[in-house]
Amino acid sequence: MIPLCVPEIKGNEWKYIKECLDTNWVSSAGSYVDKFEDEFSKYVNVKSAVVTMNGTAALELALRAVGIGQGDEVIVPSMTFISPVNTIKYVGAEPVFVDVCRDTYVMDTEKLEQLLTSKTKAIMPVHIYGHSVDMNQVMEIANKYNLYVIEDATEGLGSLYKGKSVGTIGHIGCFSFNGNKLITTGAGGMLATNDEKLGDKAKFLSTQTKVITDNKAFYHPEVGYNFRMPNILAAMGCAQLEKIDEYIKAKREHAKLYDKLLKDVRGVTLPIEKEWCKNVYWIYSILIEDDYGISRDELIQKLLDNGIECRPFFMSVHNMPPYIECRHGDMKITSEIAIKGISLPSSVGLTDNEIKKVCEIIKANSKLNV
Ligand SMILES: Cc1ncc(COP(=O)(O)O)c(C=O)c1O
Repeated sequence: MIPLCVPEIKGNEWKYIKECLDTNWVSSAGSYVDKFEDEFSKYVNVKSAVVTMNGTAALELALRAVGIGQGDEVIVPSMTFISPVNTIKYVGAEPVFVDVCRDTYVMDTEKLEQLLTSKTKAIMPVHIYGHSVDMNQVMEIANKYNLYVIEDATEGLGSLYKGKSVGTIGHIGCFSFNGNKLITTGAGGMLATNDEKLGDKAKFLSTQTKVITDNKAFYHPEVGYNFRMPNILAAMGCAQLEKIDEYIKAKREHAKLYDKLLKDVRGVTLPIEKEWCKNVYWIYSILIEDDYGISRDELIQKLLDNGIECRPFFMSVHNMPPYIECRHGDMKITSEIAIKGISLPSSVGLTDNEIKKVCEIIKANSKLNV
């Protein structure tokens, strides 16, 4: 089987985790927690980073840190993994869904402004499959209407928007280190911000708002959360971070080869890189157009029959039962690409021969070849 996206664990992971086990520092106090936050913040170039138990927790924490809650609305794309949308519900706010662009698959900033009401408090751009949202446009609207911007950069780590890491342009950016992400800690996340006050607030909330009194008792001035990452996982994160540039290079090289082999295949639309984005191509994702030859789902089956794991695009979240009543704009592109998109194998360790095998099957089923 050629897997969709599996981790690459070939660096100092064993060494650093062993050190945690040998020294008994396995839980959430330990030097790797601070080290991972420090090194990650330097890597993406933000003032403050707070490590969490997963990316979903980082997103929830971000909403709580800026004070989003009951009665507020947050604009979010429907073409996304459901996690950011769920976090809006967790804090008692309502998601409002915006359409995406056909070429980048991410939030269509032209369709944002028409969705705003007096209840809108934040915009949540999601950089899916690796391509960046047009963040200048988002920030312009946010500044005009005094809104918070919380970037879901879980699929965009390694991508740049106008030279800046995605996840560092809005007020807060959130990352995930789930097993299929660019770097992994098994499960984990990070909240990043250039607003140190927001960073401190997020850390405070994520650690049960614990204040240690003079006589070493715990005092908690408000409701807090246990979103902490244990030292063992942070140790793995430090080892993964040492390899991140290698991983980005590999993903971009895989994309170049996919582009070369698929560019002339009729009925296949390839992912792009806007002039303002350096795309990490976290997962190389294509569209199967009507003139391709067989349907998207038939192609998925052919790939699976040949031992190739692939995945259809996210189903529109605005059509899922918990969100069916939520307000949304025109969802033309979201609905179209949800039934046309396929994500192809994209592990860092993917070989050229594996990419050639995937592309041969895609080519063989195009109309020109049947
Ligand atoms: C777009 C998006 N947002 C949020 C998440 C949530 O991250 P986690 O699984 O670490 O909670 C994921 C992936 O898992 C994701 O793909």
